Amino acid sequence: MVKHPSFEFDRRKFLGLAAGGVAASAAAAPFAAFAQAAGGASLKIATIGAGHEGGTLGTLFAKQGHPVMFSSLHPELLKDLVASAGPTAQAGTAEQAVEFGDVILLVVPYTAVEQIGKDYGKALAAKQLVVDVSNPIAQRDGAAIVSWVAEQGGAGLATAKLLPGAHLVRGFNAINYVRLAADAHRPGEALGVPIAGDDPNAIALATRLIKEIGFEPVLVGGLPMGKYLVPGTPLGGEHTPAEIRQIVATLK
Ligand SMILES: NC(=O)c1ccc[n+]([C@@H]2O[C@H](COP(=O)([O-])OP(=O)(O)OC[C@H]3O[C@@H](n4cnc5c(N)ncnc54)[C@H](OP(=O)(O)O)[C@@H]3O)[C@@H](O)[C@H]2O)c1
Repeated sequence: MVKHPSFEFDRRKFLGLAAGGVAASAAAAPFAAFAQAAGGASLKIATIGAGHEGGTLGTLFAKQGHPVMFSSLHPELLKDLVASAGPTAQAGTAEQAVEFGDVILLVVPYTAVEQIGKDYGKALAAKQLVVDVSNPIAQRDGAAIVSWVAEQGGAGLATAKLLPGAHLVRGFNAINYVRLAADAHRPGEALGVPIAGDDPNAIALATRLIKEIGFEPVLVGGLPMGKYLVPGTPLGGEHTPAEIRQIVATLK
Protein backbone atom coordinates (compact mmCIF):
# COMPACT_ATOMS: atom_id res chain seq x y z
CA MET A 1 0.00 0.00 0.00
CA VAL A 2 1.40 3.40 -0.96
CA LYS A 3 1.18 5.94 1.80
CA HIS A 4 1.48 9.67 1.47
CA PRO A 5 4.77 10.73 3.04
CA SER A 6 3.31 13.73 4.87
CA PHE A 7 0.62 11.51 6.36
CA GLU A 8 3.31 9.10 7.52
CA PHE A 9 5.22 11.95 9.13
CA ASP A 10 2.14 13.18 10.95
CA ARG A 11 1.19 9.69 12.05
CA ARG A 12 4.61 8.96 13.55
CA LYS A 13 4.69 12.37 15.23
CA PHE A 14 1.24 11.63 16.63
CA LEU A 15 2.46 8.29 17.93
CA GLY A 16 5.07 10.07 20.02
CA LEU A 17 2.32 12.27 21.45
CA ALA A 18 0.17 9.25 22.21
CA ALA A 19 3.05 7.55 23.96
CA GLY A 20 3.56 10.78 25.93
CA GLY A 21 -0.08 10.57 26.97
CA VAL A 22 0.45 7.05 28.23
CA ALA A 23 3.51 8.17 30.16
CA ALA A 24 1.48 10.94 31.80
CA SER A 25 -1.24 8.46 32.63
CA ALA A 26 1.29 6.07 34.15
CA ALA A 27 2.77 8.92 36.16
CA ALA A 28 -0.72 9.57 37.52
CA ALA A 29 -0.75 5.98 38.76
CA PRO A 30 2.69 5.66 40.37
CA PHE A 31 1.84 2.32 41.96
CA ALA A 32 0.96 0.67 38.67
CA ALA A 33 4.27 -1.19 38.41
CA PHE A 34 3.87 -2.47 41.95
CA ALA A 35 0.35 -3.61 41.16
CA GLN A 36 1.68 -5.62 38.24
CA ALA A 37 4.43 -7.16 40.32
CA ALA A 38 1.95 -8.10 43.01
CA GLY A 39 -0.81 -9.19 40.64
CA GLY A 40 1.04 -11.73 38.56
CA ALA A 41 4.20 -12.67 36.74
CA SER A 42 5.28 -10.53 33.83
CA LEU A 43 4.37 -11.87 30.42
CA LYS A 44 6.13 -11.29 27.15
CA ILE A 45 3.71 -9.23 25.11
CA ALA A 46 4.16 -8.66 21.38
CA THR A 47 2.21 -6.33 19.18
CA ILE A 48 1.74 -7.08 15.49
CA GLY A 49 1.13 -3.54 14.37
CA ALA A 50 2.65 -0.63 16.26
CA GLY A 51 0.67 2.30 14.96
CA HIS A 52 -1.78 4.47 16.85
CA GLU A 53 -3.56 1.69 18.72
CA GLY A 54 -0.80 -0.95 18.88
CA GLY A 55 1.79 1.62 19.97
CA THR A 56 -0.50 2.93 22.70
CA LEU A 57 -1.52 -0.50 24.01
CA GLY A 58 2.02 -1.86 23.97
CA THR A 59 3.24 1.20 25.85
CA LEU A 60 0.61 0.69 28.55
CA PHE A 61 1.83 -2.88 29.08
CA ALA A 62 5.50 -1.86 29.01
CA LYS A 63 4.79 0.74 31.70
CA GLN A 64 3.43 -2.13 33.83
CA GLY A 65 6.83 -3.80 33.57
CA HIS A 66 5.99 -6.44 30.98
CA PRO A 67 8.62 -7.12 28.32
CA VAL A 68 7.05 -5.77 25.12
CA MET A 69 8.09 -6.19 21.50
CA PHE A 70 6.48 -3.81 19.04
CA SER A 71 6.44 -5.00 15.45
CA SER A 72 5.42 -3.45 12.17
CA LEU A 73 6.33 -3.51 8.52
CA HIS A 74 9.04 -0.95 9.32
CA PRO A 75 10.42 -1.79 12.76
CA GLU A 76 13.44 0.45 12.15
CA LEU A 77 11.05 3.40 12.44
CA LEU A 78 9.87 2.48 15.93
CA LYS A 79 12.86 3.87 17.87
CA ASP A 80 10.94 6.81 19.37
CA LEU A 81 8.08 4.56 20.39
CA VAL A 82 10.45 2.08 22.04
CA ALA A 83 12.30 4.87 23.85
CA SER A 84 9.11 6.38 25.22
CA ALA A 85 7.70 2.98 26.22
CA GLY A 86 10.70 2.41 28.47
CA PRO A 87 13.39 -0.13 29.24
CA THR A 88 11.22 -3.23 28.86
CA ALA A 89 10.32 -2.36 25.25
CA GLN A 90 11.99 -3.32 22.00
CA ALA A 91 11.07 -3.46 18.32
CA GLY A 92 11.23 -6.27 15.79
CA THR A 93 9.71 -7.77 12.73
CA ALA A 94 6.35 -9.51 12.89
CA GLU A 95 8.20 -12.82 12.72
CA GLN A 96 10.35 -11.87 15.71
CA ALA A 97 7.28 -10.66 17.60
CA VAL A 98 5.45 -13.93 17.05
CA GLU A 99 8.51 -15.79 18.29
CA PHE A 100 8.86 -13.47 21.30
CA GLY A 101 5.35 -13.10 22.68
CA ASP A 102 3.46 -15.23 25.16
CA VAL A 103 0.59 -12.93 24.34
CA ILE A 104 0.05 -11.34 20.93
CA LEU A 105 -1.86 -8.13 20.33
CA LEU A 106 -3.05 -8.09 16.73
CA VAL A 107 -3.43 -4.43 15.87
CA VAL A 108 -3.22 -4.12 12.09
CA PRO A 109 -5.50 -2.96 9.28
CA TYR A 110 -7.92 -5.86 8.79
CA THR A 111 -6.63 -6.46 5.27
CA ALA A 112 -3.34 -7.68 6.79
CA VAL A 113 -4.92 -10.38 8.95
CA GLU A 114 -5.27 -13.00 6.21
CA GLN A 115 -1.57 -12.92 5.30
CA ILE A 116 -0.55 -12.86 8.97
CA GLY A 117 -2.65 -16.00 9.40
CA LYS A 118 -0.93 -17.65 6.45
CA ASP A 119 2.55 -16.69 7.63
CA TYR A 120 2.23 -17.25 11.38
CA GLY A 121 -1.05 -19.11 11.94
CA LYS A 122 0.56 -22.21 13.40
CA ALA A 123 2.75 -20.24 15.81
CA LEU A 124 -0.15 -17.98 16.79
CA ALA A 125 -2.32 -21.01 17.58
CA ALA A 126 0.31 -22.08 20.14
CA LYS A 127 0.08 -18.79 22.09
CA GLN A 128 -1.92 -18.51 25.29
CA LEU A 129 -3.78 -15.49 24.00
CA VAL A 130 -4.18 -13.46 20.84
CA VAL A 131 -6.05 -10.22 21.45
CA ASP A 132 -7.75 -9.22 18.22
CA VAL A 133 -7.94 -5.44 18.23
CA SER A 134 -8.26 -5.17 14.44
CA ASN A 135 -11.44 -3.98 12.74
CA PRO A 136 -12.74 -4.24 9.20
CA ILE A 137 -13.43 -0.66 8.16
CA ALA A 138 -14.89 -0.07 4.68
CA GLN A 139 -13.30 3.35 4.27
CA ARG A 140 -9.83 2.00 4.96
CA ASP A 141 -10.01 -1.69 4.07
CA GLY A 142 -12.55 -1.66 1.24
CA ALA A 143 -16.16 -2.78 1.01
CA ALA A 144 -15.30 -6.30 -0.18
CA ILE A 145 -13.54 -7.35 3.02
CA VAL A 146 -16.27 -5.80 5.15
CA SER A 147 -18.87 -7.88 3.23
CA TRP A 148 -16.74 -11.00 3.62
CA VAL A 149 -16.44 -10.44 7.36
CA ALA A 150 -20.23 -9.99 7.63
CA GLU A 151 -20.74 -13.27 5.71
CA GLN A 152 -18.59 -15.05 8.32
CA GLY A 153 -20.85 -13.75 11.11
CA GLY A 154 -18.77 -10.72 12.06
CA ALA A 155 -15.23 -9.89 13.04
CA GLY A 156 -14.90 -12.46 15.85
CA LEU A 157 -15.74 -15.44 13.67
CA ALA A 158 -13.92 -14.00 10.66
CA THR A 159 -10.65 -13.61 12.56
CA ALA A 160 -11.09 -17.13 13.96
CA LYS A 161 -11.31 -18.37 10.38
CA LEU A 162 -8.19 -16.46 9.36
CA LEU A 163 -6.22 -17.60 12.45
CA PRO A 164 -7.44 -21.17 12.94
CA GLY A 165 -6.84 -22.57 16.40
CA ALA A 166 -5.78 -19.25 17.92
CA HIS A 167 -6.97 -18.54 21.47
CA LEU A 168 -8.70 -15.35 20.48
CA VAL A 169 -10.26 -12.61 22.51
CA ARG A 170 -11.57 -9.51 20.79
CA GLY A 171 -10.92 -6.42 22.84
CA PHE A 172 -10.11 -2.70 22.74
CA ASN A 173 -11.68 -2.59 19.27
CA ALA A 174 -13.69 0.56 19.55
CA ILE A 175 -11.80 2.63 22.10
CA ASN A 176 -9.92 5.36 20.34
CA TYR A 177 -6.20 5.27 21.07
CA VAL A 178 -6.22 8.80 22.49
CA ARG A 179 -8.91 7.79 25.01
CA LEU A 180 -7.00 4.58 25.69
CA ALA A 181 -3.96 6.54 26.77
CA ALA A 182 -5.96 9.12 28.72
CA ASP A 183 -8.35 6.74 30.49
CA ALA A 184 -5.91 4.03 31.61
CA HIS A 185 -5.84 4.00 35.44
CA ARG A 186 -8.24 6.93 35.49
CA PRO A 187 -9.42 7.99 38.93
CA GLY A 188 -12.87 6.82 39.99
CA GLU A 189 -14.70 4.15 38.04
CA ALA A 190 -12.60 2.39 35.42
CA LEU A 191 -13.61 2.59 31.79
CA GLY A 192 -15.17 -0.65 30.55
CA VAL A 193 -13.56 -2.78 27.85
CA PRO A 194 -16.02 -5.15 26.20
CA ILE A 195 -14.41 -8.45 25.29
CA ALA A 196 -15.63 -11.51 23.40
CA GLY A 197 -14.05 -14.94 23.25
CA ASP A 198 -14.66 -18.67 23.45
CA ASP A 199 -11.58 -19.91 25.30
CA PRO A 200 -11.86 -19.65 29.11
CA ASN A 201 -8.09 -19.54 29.71
CA ALA A 202 -7.59 -16.86 27.10
CA ILE A 203 -10.48 -14.85 28.54
CA ALA A 204 -9.01 -15.17 32.05
CA LEU A 205 -5.63 -13.96 30.86
CA ALA A 206 -7.12 -11.09 28.86
CA THR A 207 -9.15 -10.12 31.92
CA ARG A 208 -6.04 -9.99 34.09
CA LEU A 209 -4.08 -7.94 31.57
CA ILE A 210 -6.88 -5.46 30.91
CA LYS A 211 -7.28 -4.87 34.64
CA GLU A 212 -3.54 -4.36 35.02
CA ILE A 213 -3.62 -1.38 32.67
CA GLY A 214 -6.48 0.20 34.54
CA PHE A 215 -9.64 -0.79 32.68
CA GLU A 216 -12.55 -3.04 33.59
CA PRO A 217 -13.11 -5.92 31.15
CA VAL A 218 -16.71 -6.93 30.52
CA LEU A 219 -17.22 -10.29 28.82
CA VAL A 220 -20.10 -9.78 26.39
CA GLY A 221 -20.16 -13.33 25.02
CA GLY A 222 -18.43 -15.69 22.64
CA LEU A 223 -16.71 -14.84 19.38
CA PRO A 224 -20.05 -14.39 17.53
CA MET A 225 -20.54 -11.29 19.73
CA GLY A 226 -17.31 -9.97 18.25
CA LYS A 227 -19.45 -8.45 15.50
CA TYR A 228 -20.51 -5.80 18.00
CA LEU A 229 -16.92 -5.03 19.03
CA VAL A 230 -16.26 -2.67 16.15
CA PRO A 231 -16.69 1.07 15.80
CA GLY A 232 -20.17 2.20 14.81
CA THR A 233 -22.14 -0.34 16.85
CA PRO A 234 -23.88 0.55 20.14
CA LEU A 235 -20.85 -0.84 22.01
CA GLY A 236 -18.47 1.42 20.09
CA GLY A 237 -16.74 4.27 21.89
CA GLU A 238 -16.27 4.63 25.63
CA HIS A 239 -18.67 3.21 28.19
CA THR A 240 -18.68 2.33 31.86
CA PRO A 241 -18.96 -1.38 32.70
CA ALA A 242 -22.62 -0.89 33.72
CA GLU A 243 -23.40 0.85 30.42
CA ILE A 244 -21.78 -2.01 28.50
CA ARG A 245 -23.97 -4.55 30.33
CA GLN A 246 -27.09 -2.48 29.61
CA ILE A 247 -26.22 -2.19 25.92
CA VAL A 248 -25.46 -5.91 25.64
CA ALA A 249 -28.88 -6.73 27.08
CA THR A 250 -30.46 -4.84 24.17
CA LEU A 251 -28.38 -6.77 21.63
CA LYS A 252 -29.50 -10.25 22.63
N1 LIG B 1 -6.68 4.03 15.96
C1 LIG B 1 -7.56 3.68 16.91
O1 LIG B 1 -7.92 4.50 17.76
C2 LIG B 1 -8.09 2.26 16.96
C3 LIG B 1 -8.93 1.90 18.01
C4 LIG B 1 -9.38 0.58 18.10
C5 LIG B 1 -9.01 -0.35 17.14
N2 LIG B 1 -8.22 0.04 16.11
C6 LIG B 1 -7.89 -0.96 15.09
O2 LIG B 1 -6.52 -1.28 15.24
C7 LIG B 1 -5.96 -1.56 13.96
C8 LIG B 1 -4.77 -0.64 13.74
O3 LIG B 1 -5.24 0.69 13.73
P1 LIG B 1 -4.22 1.90 13.92
O4 LIG B 1 -5.04 3.12 14.01
O5 LIG B 1 -3.26 1.60 14.99
O6 LIG B 1 -3.50 1.86 12.50
P2 LIG B 1 -2.09 2.49 12.11
O7 LIG B 1 -1.76 3.62 13.00
O8 LIG B 1 -2.16 2.72 10.63
O9 LIG B 1 -1.04 1.30 12.39
C9 LIG B 1 -1.10 0.09 11.69
C10 LIG B 1 0.11 -0.71 12.08
O10 LIG B 1 0.03 -1.99 11.46
C11 LIG B 1 1.30 -2.28 10.87
N3 LIG B 1 1.08 -3.26 9.82
C12 LIG B 1 0.33 -3.16 8.70
N4 LIG B 1 0.36 -4.30 8.01
C13 LIG B 1 1.17 -5.16 8.72
C14 LIG B 1 1.60 -6.49 8.54
N5 LIG B 1 1.23 -7.21 7.48
N6 LIG B 1 2.43 -7.03 9.47
C15 LIG B 1 2.82 -6.33 10.55
N7 LIG B 1 2.43 -5.05 10.78
C16 LIG B 1 1.62 -4.48 9.87
C17 LIG B 1 1.77 -0.93 10.38
O11 LIG B 1 3.17 -0.99 10.09
P3 LIG B 1 3.92 0.22 9.33
O12 LIG B 1 3.69 1.47 10.14
O13 LIG B 1 5.35 -0.20 9.32
O14 LIG B 1 3.30 0.32 7.96
C18 LIG B 1 1.44 -0.10 11.60
O15 LIG B 1 2.41 -0.28 12.62
C19 LIG B 1 -7.07 -1.34 12.93
O16 LIG B 1 -7.67 -2.56 12.58
C20 LIG B 1 -8.04 -0.46 13.68
O17 LIG B 1 -9.38 -0.59 13.21
C21 LIG B 1 -7.73 1.30 16.00
